[in-house]
Formats: sequence, C-alpha cells, structure tokens
Amino acid sequence: MAAALSDVGRLPGALTVRDDPAGVAAAAAGWIVEMAGAAISGGGRFRIALAGGSTPRTLYQVLAVTPHRERTDWGRWEVYFGDERACPPDDPANNCRMAREALLDLVPVRPELIHRMEAECSDLDAAAAEYSSILASTCHTATTGSAPRLDCILLGLGENGHTASLFPGDPALQVRDRWAVRSRADYSPFDRITVTYPVLNAAAHVAFLVTGPAKGEALRGVVEGRVPAAGVRPPDGELRWFMDTAAAGSL
Ligand code: 6PG
Repeated sequence: MAAALSDVGRLPGALTVRDDPAGVAAAAAGWIVEMAGAAISGGGRFRIALAGGSTPRTLYQVLAVTPHRERTDWGRWEVYFGDERACPPDDPANNCRMAREALLDLVPVRPELIHRMEAECSDLDAAAAEYSSILASTCHTATTGSAPRLDCILLGLGENGHTASLFPGDPALQVRDRWAVRSRADYSPFDRITVTYPVLNAAAHVAFLVTGPAKGEALRGVVEGRVPAAGVRPPDGELRWFMDTAAAGSL
C-alpha cells in the first residue's frame, strides 16, 4: 500500500483519498460547496459542469441532502455538462437524466440555468455548435486563451483513460477552436457530445472522481501522459483528484 500511495502521489494536482466511495462523495461534496461559496461571493454565480457515468451519482445524492443541501445557494448555480450520450433525455444512459434524478430535480436550481446538451438531435455537429455558443455566451473568458472559464468541472476517468467523452484516438482530442464537439465512444451509446480540452483547461477548478480497483491502468496512463485524461492540466486553475483507497492502491 505504501508503494501504491507514493505512486498515486505522482498524479498531477492535489489528491484526496478516502476509504470508500461514500467517503469520496462526502469529501468532494464539501469541496464543491466551498467552491460554490467562493464563486457566489466573488461573482454572484457558480458555474459547474457535471460529470456523467456512474461514479458521480453518489456525490450528487450527497449534495442533495443535509448537510450539504443547506450549505449553498442553489439559485446561484448554473449547471453544464462535460459530455452527453446520443440518446433521448429520458434514456437510462443519459447523463443529464442521472444528474436530475440524483440532484437537479431535488434542489432549487433555476431551470433556465441548467444547460443540457441536446445530444439526441440527429445533427450532433449542430447540437455541439449550439452548446459551444451557450458556453461562450454564459461564461466569462479564460485568463489564458479565449475559452469559456467555468468555476468547477467534475470529471470521471474511464478504464482506457478517457474523460468526459474524449476517447483515445478521437479527433476531438485535437480541437482547440471550439468548446464542444461530437465524438465517438468505444462503448454504447457510441455517439457523443463532449467539451474540449480548451474548456477543461480554462476552468478555475477541475476534480476527477475515481473509485474502485479497475482504474489502475488509466491512472498509470495519466501519470505517464499517454491517455486523454492526462491532457487536463489547467494552467490557471486547480486540479484535484478524489479517490478511494481501492483506486489509489490500483495505480
Ligand atoms: C460518460 C462519462 C465518462 C465517465 C467515465 C467513468 O458519459 O461515460 O462522462 O467519461 O466519466 O467513463 O465512468 P464511471 O464513473 O462510470 O467509471
């Protein structure tokens, strides 16, 4: 274990390790509420992009109940998504549906401040371009470059080192002049919309949520710089990892 923890210390950014997924969710929830308070105090709004997949569900459920529910001004939250699967909004695979069930339908976020990616559209390029416009028109511009700057972006880590829907070998990895594009996953639903590296790296705070023993190869890929998640290195922002001991020990 000692060797593994020293290896996990080679990840870029700050590291928070907890015993289990529930502990990871509680730690991440406290951090998010703190980020929200600072953003709201500083500019009156907290702009956060939620992650999809399964890991964040527990975090969203924790945010939706006492004590975290009462510790933030939900009316000041503006919610975005890091990626979305090309499926109907009510499909069980839909990331926004998961976030609504676990959090957004349970707290008083203003509906007009929830920006869903319309990935069910037949023209994914047009839907991605529309999302790029939403990001550009509702966010401040980054300190470095011209990308929209979010206060906080939550990300998961796939077993092949993908994050959001930036998959190995996908052309989306090369995009620098658009903020959201279509991409292709290696598991169903295959077609996606994802935010691009310029948005991920413009953020003030980025947090990866990684639990379980299956992400060791992906974590090694981050350390060695050979997977898509390794490209998330915000030059003017905080990068943080929240993981359990099973994930930390798998590196
Ligand atoms: C998606 C997610 C994806 C996810 C990782 C990790 O739409 O699938 O955005 O990037 O975060 O695949 O997923 P788990 O948290 O389920 O392991």
